[in-house]
Amino acid sequence: MISEPVRDCALCPRLADFRTDNRSQFPGWFNAPVPSWGDEAPRLLIVGLAPGLRGANRTGRPFTGDYAGDLLFETLGKAGATSGTYAARPDDGLGLHGVRITNAVRCVPPQNKPVGAEITACRPFLTATIDELASVRAILVLGRIAHESLLSSFGQKRSRFPFAHGAEHALPDGRVVFDSYHCSRYNTNTGRLTPQMFEAVVFAAAERAGIGRFAT
Ligand code: URA
Repeated sequence: MISEPVRDCALCPRLADFRTDNRSQFPGWFNAPVPSWGDEAPRLLIVGLAPGLRGANRTGRPFTGDYAGDLLFETLGKAGATSGTYAARPDDGLGLHGVRITNAVRCVPPQNKPVGAEITACRPFLTATIDELASVRAILVLGRIAHESLLSSFGQKRSRFPFAHGAEHALPDGRVVFDSYHCSRYNTNTGRLTPQMFEAVVFAAAERAGIGRFAT
């Protein structure tokens, strides 16, 4: 299985229709499945939900131009896992070191909400992404959907590893999954996720991975 969908992937009719609409409405935008991005041999893999319409779907780089990217890249910077300065553009020169970012669903969904069939249809790409990254020691999942899709990718029962912010799940293959609430605008504006809470879980995952300021 390949780890990236083709540009005109037709597995999800609703998402393909949405893409067609966006291509005619916003012809200068990326408007395609957003590929994983970052270190080619990462120790930490971050799994988000799906590209935002005016963010990653526009720029073509995960979390880039999305509100959620501001906190994510700032926190990765504090962990010492970035170089350069994030400027919400794919040509901003930002580098990720020891970390790679992917999404459970690669195409932008209407209202930021993929449906179950779309999460399932996109899962083989997540599985293939993990399979090709033997260097990964820790996986940080952002939100319950990413958590559940990742566990299914590993063939694990969700009931055995319930989602909870800050939880750490040791998988049978020795990798550790770190759960976080998604760093979305909604979660940060409502106080469900504070920058301090997010930093604590990102640092824990970075420490386990042995990257940045926690390099081993
Ligand atoms: N939110 C995500 O979960 N992923 C992105 O790529 C952008 C925003």
